[in-house]
Formats: sequence, C-alpha cells, structure tokens
Amino acid sequence: MDRMEQLKSTDRLKQMCADFVQNSLIDSSLYNKFGVKRGLRNSDGSGVVAGITNVCCVHGYVLSEGDKQPIDGELIYRGYNVRDLVGGALGDDRYGYEEVAYLLLFGVLPNERELTSFSRLIAEYRELPRYFSEDVIMRNPSPNIMNKMQQAVLTLYSYDSDPEDKSVESEMMKAISVISKLPAIMVASYQTMRRFYYNDTMVMHQINKEESLAESILSTLRDDRAYTPEEAKLLDVCLMLHAEHGGGNNSTFTCRTVSSSGTDAYSAYSAAIGSLKGPRHGGANIKVMEMLEHVKAGVKDWDNDGEVREFLRKLLRREAGDKSGLIYGMGHAVYTLSDPRAVILKSNAMKLAEGTEFEAEFRLLDSIERLTPEVFAEERGDIKNICANVDMYSGLVYKMLKIPVEMYTALFACARMAGWCAHRMEEMINGKRIIRPAYKAINLNKEYIPLSDR
Ligand code: COA
Repeated sequence: MDRMEQLKSTDRLKQMCADFVQNSLIDSSLYNKFGVKRGLRNSDGSGVVAGITNVCCVHGYVLSEGDKQPIDGELIYRGYNVRDLVGGALGDDRYGYEEVAYLLLFGVLPNERELTSFSRLIAEYRELPRYFSEDVIMRNPSPNIMNKMQQAVLTLYSYDSDPEDKSVESEMMKAISVISKLPAIMVASYQTMRRFYYNDTMVMHQINKEESLAESILSTLRDDRAYTPEEAKLLDVCLMLHAEHGGGNNSTFTCRTVSSSGTDAYSAYSAAIGSLKGPRHGGANIKVMEMLEHVKAGVKDWDNDGEVREFLRKLLRREAGDKSGLIYGMGHAVYTLSDPRAVILKSNAMKLAEGTEFEAEFRLLDSIERLTPEVFAEERGDIKNICANVDMYSGLVYKMLKIPVEMYTALFACARMAGWCAHRMEEMINGKRIIRPAYKAINLNKEYIPLSDR
C-alpha cells in the first residue's frame, strides 16, 4: 500500500479534513457586514457589472425606480435577435450555425458569398492533425468527454507553429480552427470512451467536408452515418441557441478572466470548457435528464399534477433526486418570465415528440416547468420568478436525436466555442487590464510557534 492509500484507510484523513473545514468556514453574516458581492451579485440577484461588450445582450428584466420588473427574455447576438437568426435559417431551409459563428466572430451578418466561403473554411479545418486522435485522445482516454475535450484543446497548443502569437489575425485563425475541430474532438472522445469504458465498439468515421457542422456531428457519431435533414436542422438550431450568452456567464467570464492575464488562446478556451462542465452551468442538461428519471420512477401517474407537485416538493427538500435541493432546468441568473432559448427549443421538441414514445416525457417536463414556480414559492417563501431555462428541453431533444447523454454538455461546448472566441478577442483588444477582484481576509494574526514547540 502506498502512502496515499494508507492515509485513505485511516481516520487521520478525516481529522485533517475536519481541520480544513473548521479553518475555512466563513460565517455567512460576514458577507453582508463587509458588503461582499457574493457570486459577484447585487442584493437583488442581478450580476455586478464587470465589463462592456459588443458581442451579445441577455435581457431578462427592466429596472424601474430601482425595482426589478420581470419581462420575457430576449437574446441578442451582435444586435440581432436570436429568434430572427433561427427563423431566418429555418425559413430558408438552410443550416444556421456557421452564419451565427461568422456573426459572433466578425460582428456583421455575412452575405451569401462570405457565408459559403466561411462554411468551407470551417469544414476544411475540421480534420484533426495527423495522429492527434491516436496520441492525444485514444492513448489516454477519459471517462468524461468534457474532461477529454479540455485536455485536447490545451494540447492543440503543441500543434500550433506559433501558439503565443496574439495578433488579431493569428487569434482569428486559432478561433476558426478550434471552432472547426472541437466537434471532431468531441466525437473521437466519445468513441474512445465507448471502447474503453463501455466495452463497446469504437467507430471512427472519416470527416466529410461537404457537411455542415451539425450534419458532421450526426454523421461521425452514428455507426451507419445516416441522419435525416430534419434531425440535422434541429441539432443546428440547438447549436445556434447555445452559441453565445453574454460576458457574465461562468464559462465566458472564465475565458475573459484567463485571457486578461495575457496568456494564450488554448489556455483560455480549455479553462472555459472546464467551467461549462459544472452542473450549475452546462452540466445541467445531463442533470435534467437524470432528474426526469427520478420523477418518472417516483410519480405513478405522470399526468397527475398533485403527484408531480409532491415530488417537486421532495426535490426542493433534498428528499429525492440527487438531494441537491435543485430542480434542474429551472431558474436563471438573468431571465425572469422566460428564457427565449427554452421557448424555441420547447416548440421544436414538441413537434418532434408528438405522436412518438417521447410525448409522455415531453408532457412531464412541461408539468415540471408549469408547477415548479408555485412549489418553489410555497417551499422557499420566495416569490421570485423562476422560469424554465434552455436545459429543460435540450436534453429531451438530444435524446430524440439518439445522442448519448454523455455528449449533452459537450455539444453545448462545441456551440459555445464561437462565443468564447468572440469574447476572448474582445477582451484582448479592449480589456487592457488584468481582471483582479479582491478578497477580504478575516484570519487573525497569529504568533508563529517554532516546530519543536508544537
Ligand atoms: N431549484 C432550486 N432552487 C433554486 C433553483 C432551482 N432550479 N433556482 C434557483 N434556486 C434558488 C437558488 O439556489 C438560490 O437559493 P439560495 O438563496 O438559498 O442560495 C435562490 O433560489 C435564488 O437564486 P437566483 O439568484 O435566482 O439564481 P442563481 O442565479 O443563484 O442561480 C441557477 C441560477 C441557474 C444556477 C439556478 O437557478 C439553478 O441552480 N438552477 C438549476 C440548475 C440549472 O438548471 N442550470 C442551468 C442554467 S442555464
């Protein structure tokens, strides 16, 4: 047994951890006393303004005489409402993610010629460097795709002939390259995981450069490469809706914070992936589907509001589900009455679910969305608006697209890479100052005791 194993098997570790907790716990009243904006939030829950951006606007309430007035949410990419961007692509019966990526990166909508050439560029860069899958992904597999993606993005540094070149031109090329490659990294990580952790067969298809990014994901993921245009267009809508969400969300702020130190692009993008992995952020789409399984098992009649309500109460009381006290897929830091992404996804999910085996699950999610606000108000005595967020229906859409649950957050990362890139470059040309907030220290001065006297 090595020393680490020995430590694990004794009470010494428990004692050391108890010491850590005792010496680290902070009395929550001190946050008020010192005026600390916990979680970088104001007392009304709104975010502390930490920067200015041209990239995106997330609008969830209006302030009237200092009061937060709830409104239906709006999501605006570079001045254009995401509803119009999705509607435009669907109306023309074409893929829209590449257009959104172009808009986020360059700040303008592309004309037809620009869009075609940009889409070709994205497809061209999709191929991973020679032996990258073998050396970086398969040689050292991970049971978590987000973890593998984070490692792989960081490793792209070694494959870049000038990784520290931070000119706008070089940063733009790195951005396009990472946006293009991340889906291939995701699928290779999943296929490797299938073989190493599930004793299943790993299928590594060649990349087809004629496909859109959404099509490419489905065709490399599925053993038979088959997909319908409806399936690929629905995935494309998901990617468009997840592409960007302002500067304050945890992963984008992470990306901007890391970038503000002047470090390289790969460090910033891999850190953002690490942040998105968390269950309070991108990881929530997996948690919604886990929660749905708990609700399905704990509620006999899924159409009975009373039964669903009681189960939601148990979730909030930490008596059911993962005992976190959270109802996943509900609540948002900015949106109050509605999350526009959830509204668009819900209507698409409904169309796909109608008349299929998934219709009952869709209705159950709809009941959770409808009943949570009143149960939340009863249980927490809090009348704040709590609406369904994007993750409430994205998991079900992915399930209907036969996408494995382990890939849900990874798909979010592929989509959001465009937003992270736009924010990193914006931070670099405007920030000019390292992001460095302060922490109030409360430890008292202690007299040093020589080792021999302890
Ligand atoms: N279930 C249970 N409690 C919730 C909740 C939910 N879905 N959403 C918010 N709350 C609680 C918060 O935990 C917080 O409680 P506290 O004061 O005891 O700490 C309180 O309501 C106020 O939260 P608020 O300020 O409105 O939200 P937030 O900005 O702190 O959190 C989320 C936003 C998204 C992290 C939160 O709503 C959440 O954890 N939702 C579930 C996870 C999820 O779906 N995430 C996906 C986000 S797109």
